[in-house]
Parts: sequence; C-alpha cells; structure tokens
Amino acid sequence: MNIQEVHSYEEMSREAAYILEQHISQHPDATIGFATGSTPIGLYQELIRAHQERGLSFQSVKGFNLDEYVGLSPDHPQSYRHFMQTQLFDHIDIQPGKTKVPAGTGNAEEEASSYEDALQASDGVDIQILGIGENGHIGFNEPGTPFDSLTHVVELTESTRAANARFFDTLEEVPTHAVTMGIETILRAKQLILLISGSHKKVTYEQFLRTQDDPGFPASALKNHPNLLVFVTEDARS
Ligand code: PGA
Repeated sequence: MNIQEVHSYEEMSREAAYILEQHISQHPDATIGFATGSTPIGLYQELIRAHQERGLSFQSVKGFNLDEYVGLSPDHPQSYRHFMQTQLFDHIDIQPGKTKVPAGTGNAEEEASSYEDALQASDGVDIQILGIGENGHIGFNEPGTPFDSLTHVVELTESTRAANARFFDTLEEVPTHAVTMGIETILRAKQLILLISGSHKKVTYEQFLRTQDDPGFPASALKNHPNLLVFVTEDARS
C-alpha cells in the first residue's frame, strides 16, 4: 500500500487525474473503473480539463462503474448513471456504448449476474477509482460483506441511506437496495486508487489504518491488493 498524504482536495484531485491521464495517454484503450459520490468530482473536473485543454482522448477508453441504486432509471437525477453523464461522460469524448453502469431497473439479481459476466469477459479494469463510506464501505459493499463477493444486490444500511439522503428530498426517497461490484470483483483491478477526503472521514481513515482482513470494515480488504494507492487529504488525517 502506498499512501500519499496531500494537503487539499484540489491537490488530491490533480494528482489522481495525472495518474489516469498518463495511463490513458500510454494505453488509449484502457479500462477505467469509475466511482460516484462527492469525492471523485474534483478528479472528474481535472479529466474534463485534460480533455478540453490538452486533447486527452477517451475515444477508445472503456468504463465500468462500481454500483447503481435499484429502482432508479438512468435519467433519474439521483441515479449513478445520471451522475456519471453530468459529472464526466457528457464532457469528454468517451463512446456511450463503452460506459457501463449497472442498470437500476429490471430484475436486479439478473443485472448483477450479467454485469459480473461482462466484467469477467472484458480484459479487466486497469485502474479502479474508489471512495470510502464513513462505515468503511467500498462501492456499496457494506460491513459484513464477504471478501469473496462478486457483483450482487445489497440492502443498504440505514447509515448509508442517511449519508446519501442529502441528495434526495426526503430519507424515504433514498433507495433501499443497490447493485454493486463485489469486493473480489473490485480486487481484480490491476490498480486501485482510494480517495479519502474531508474531516468527516477522520475516524474512517483511522479505522482503515488500524484494520486488516476485517469484513466488518470492508475497505480493509483493499490492503491485500498489490497495487493500492491511497490519497488522503490533511483534513481527513488526525
Ligand atoms: P462520498 O461517498 O465520496 O460522497 O463521501 C463515498 C462512498 O460512500 O463510497
């Protein structure tokens, strides 16, 4: 595990974007694992800037997103598909057919298994971007998720629903289930970049440093990965 202690959110976003820019420049057909949430927004802004100002092309890049809420259609303003379109995909030249986000509508169990099949049939994710939930979740792998889990349907914990309620009008509107890549699915990526930022992640980061192989803290599984890069901002460190 390589930990990069950075000062600010802006520095983290720039540094992480630089790694992706270098990789995509050298491997134009790279497969990137994208994440949603507040944390990667700055990184996506940097990638848009790299595209607009330096001509970084995403024409041949493939994307697989970590997760999606069950019950939200792609155009629902809180769906992760909508998030990816508005925060990144609509502003770069990535081909729509090459961006995969689990479908939130239809049979969720079937979607989970076909998403896993699509991942396994691909050449694999080169770089997976990850945020971390305050309870240590990765994607929507909540505490207690087995480390050998593949893409599956999860019931969201009340703490996750409460944390995400800020994007919805009421807590009741926050979906109760999601489709998420499993922990084993995530660990198959060749490189993982974990972004930790904000004073509300201080306890989370401390726990991340302290835990190892603890299903009660899903992010601890990442420490077994041979190529894990963690960015942590000053406000998330004690
Ligand atoms: P956040 O979410 O980036 O909005 O903090 C991270 C997560 O829940 O995985």
